[in-house]
This record gives sequence, C-alpha cells and structure tokens, in this order.
Amino acid sequence: MRKGIVLAGGTGTRLYPSTKIFSKQLLTIYDKPLIFYPLSTLMLSEVRDILIITTPNDHEHFVRLLGDGSNWGINLSYATQEKPKGIAESILIGEKFINNESCSLILGDNIFFGQNFSNRLINAATQHSGATVFSYHVNDPENYGVVKMDKNNIAKEIVEKPKSFISNFAITGLYFYDNNVVEYAKSLRPSDRGELEITDLNNCYLQNGSLNVEFLGRGYAWLDTGTHENMLSASNFVNTVQKRQGLMISCLEEIALMKGWISKEDVERQISLLKNSSYGVYLAKILEAS
Ligand code: TTP
Repeated sequence: MRKGIVLAGGTGTRLYPSTKIFSKQLLTIYDKPLIFYPLSTLMLSEVRDILIITTPNDHEHFVRLLGDGSNWGINLSYATQEKPKGIAESILIGEKFINNESCSLILGDNIFFGQNFSNRLINAATQHSGATVFSYHVNDPENYGVVKMDKNNIAKEIVEKPKSFISNFAITGLYFYDNNVVEYAKSLRPSDRGELEITDLNNCYLQNGSLNVEFLGRGYAWLDTGTHENMLSASNFVNTVQKRQGLMISCLEEIALMKGWISKEDVERQISLLKNSSYGVYLAKILEAS
C-alpha cells in the first residue's frame, strides 16, 4: 500500500513573529488548522498510512491535534526533522516508514482545490512506477521550481528558483513517487544553500524518462501560505467558497465518512467535542444529510 508523508517542519521565518514559537502548519486558514488541507489531499488520494514530519519543538502539538489518525480512519505516525535541510530530506527521514512501498509527499503548507482533483489524485496514486508531479501557472515563477519545456511542451528540466525567465509553470508541493525515490534521495548532495533539493530529486526521475508532469489548469486553486498576505488570501478563498456552496473544503471527517473509513457514530463523537464551532455545526449537517 502506498505511503504518504506530510512535511510540516520548516522555520516559517516569513511569518515571524507568529511562527517564532509555533508551527506555521498549525496556524488557522479560515476555520481549521493549515495541516488539515494537505492531509485531506492525501486522504482524497486514498493514502491512509501517513507520516507527519515536524520540527522537534512542534511535535507534541501535532500529536495533540491529530493523534493516531483514528478519528479519520487513517494511521498517523510522526518523525522530526532537526533542521530545515531541504524538502527531499523528508524521504531519508521516512526511509524506514516507506520501506518497499511507493510514497506520496505533500508540503504541509500547500492547499489544493478543484473539480475532478480526487480522480486525478487516485490516478497518480495508483501508478507504482515512475513519478507524477503537478505544474501550475503562477505569476511569480522565480519563487518555485519551474519546468523548462521543449516546443512540444515536453518537460526537459526543472530549475529551482530561476533568476531569468523560463516559463510560468511552477511545480506544486505534491509529489507521487515509486519506491526508487529512496535510492534517488540518497544520491543527492546539498545545494549551494545547503538543502537537499526536491527539484534535484524530481530531475532524477526526469533524466530517467520516468517523470510525469501533469498540468493543473485554470479551474484549480493551488495556494501556498508562506506569507501573511498568502494566508489571508487562502482564508478568504476558503470562506468565499464555503459560504457560497455550504460545503466545506478539507473537512477530514466528511472525506473519511464518504470513503467508509469511519462510522456515523465516530462522527457523532467528534460533534460532541466540536459542536460550538462552525466545523462541528458542519459535521452535524453532513450527518443529518447522510
Ligand atoms: P518553505 O516555505 O520553503 O520554508 P518555511 O516554511 O520554513 O518558511 P520560511 O521560508 O518563511 O522560513 O517550506 C515549504 C514547506 O516545506 C513548509 O510547509 C515547510 C516545509 N519544509 C520542511 O518541513 N523542511 C524543510 O527543510 C523545508 C525546506 C521545508
């Protein structure tokens, strides 16, 4: 069974002083902690065995919030990253956990939303050879790993934070790897900024002809929440869509119930704890409708 990793370490220096003593991924995006969003993405891809990687300082807060995952019919385990030495280090930290399975990795501060995304996730998750990553048109490609394409739109290389313009297509923080990822991660050397770069890892697959770059078009939202401005935009986005539709984005119990991983009684138990919040009120609503 494919494994999942949520990388939720980092220092969050762009959000100081808010993140001086507290993890960015535990801050709120509108009505729920940020980490619920990437966790929901892994759940929608039907990955149920998930490793959460945090800083040593934040570890206990994540455990208190998420526990062993049984509230959502998933299996959560935890590991720590001593220092933010790069996104690709998560694979080395998770080596034993991954064992001989394929592995999906998502950054703890990435939010995805869009029609038919679940099917695309399940398609990517059921491939057990090669890797799938997603590209997305952004206004500020210089802040991301960016895809260089040939004239037939075939990905040729991914360039980390390009200083001169290559394209507007950034690689998002969601990666589906086969089991070769562990060997590839071991072959990486730290970059000039001292990090094990996820872009180098993705280029290993690209060079071997086994990287599938899928495009997420205009109908998708990919929000990253590294700055206060981005956090506010993400909160406003979630609020706008939820208020209009009366449907919640990244309600973990709703996903688990829909997948048949938890029972109505499990949701009732959650409602009794959360009933004073809009999250709890929503749970009561979905239970009534189910
Ligand atoms: P970044 O936004 O690159 O870093 P950060 O979260 O520490 O923030 P800042 O730049 O403001 O200091 O990280 C993207 C995501 O990846 C975020 O969820 C944190 C996570 N991350 C780690 O957990 N470990 C790492 O070594 C790196 C580089 C990132």
